[in-house]
Amino acid sequence: MARGKFIVSTNFKMNGSRAFLQDLVENLNRADLDSNVGTITIPSQLSNLRKDIAVGGQNCFWKSSGAYTGEISAEMLKDAGAEYVILGHTERRTLFKESDSLIGFKVASALAAGLKVIACIGETLSERESNTTLQVLFRQLQAIVDHVQDLNQEEKWEDVVIAYEPVWAIGTGRVATPEQAQVVHAAIRRRVEETVEGSVAEGMRIIYGGSVNLGNARQLAREKDVDGLFVGGASLKPEFVEICNVLR
Ligand code: G3P
Repeated sequence: MARGKFIVSTNFKMNGSRAFLQDLVENLNRADLDSNVGTITIPSQLSNLRKDIAVGGQNCFWKSSGAYTGEISAEMLKDAGAEYVILGHTERRTLFKESDSLIGFKVASALAAGLKVIACIGETLSERESNTTLQVLFRQLQAIVDHVQDLNQEEKWEDVVIAYEPVWAIGTGRVATPEQAQVVHAAIRRRVEETVEGSVAEGMRIIYGGSVNLGNARQLAREKDVDGLFVGGASLKPEFVEICNVLR
């Protein structure tokens, strides 16, 4: 499986008025973006983006429709023009008590509906300090692997992007060093090789998120196993365009 383009994605989270988002989107639509980078926008409201920027949803429940008040299905996201969905973000895991297993189920459901998934995993500061980072990440990853394997469609792995987002780095200004990110990304890739398959591991894009900004993006992007950047706060600023062009 060949590794796809380097990815830079926004995550607007629950931010922005319509007017604010319209300005951001217009800025992106006008920008001179590196065509060697796959740019994804994960907005907080429906937005009119140019066609070479992929759009994602921030969450979905399962494949099709049903009596699930407050939820949105993978098929509805697709119908609205989304190509991607974020699942397993730490804010969903902690604030909304989404379990590893629920996230695995949602990942498989979204894939089955034809969406690409940005599946997030990450350790807390206390987990890092107690040297359990990889144990935690592998547990979160395993739930995803188990559910995706149940689909029995090996090719679906091409639609999975893993986002390593250390919880201690999200929204804190405390970014992982490029070395820290590289060590973890390489370990995730090895784990995918052991639990899924070598070609899947080789082709899988593993992106980093957590306090990415223009000042640190280039160095992170230079690491061998960092296949993209997942940008929260800085994606709400005009500098996001420059982050998209860090490979230039
Ligand atoms: O999904 C990306 C996000 O969690 C990172 O947020 O604000 O630390 O860039 P931020």
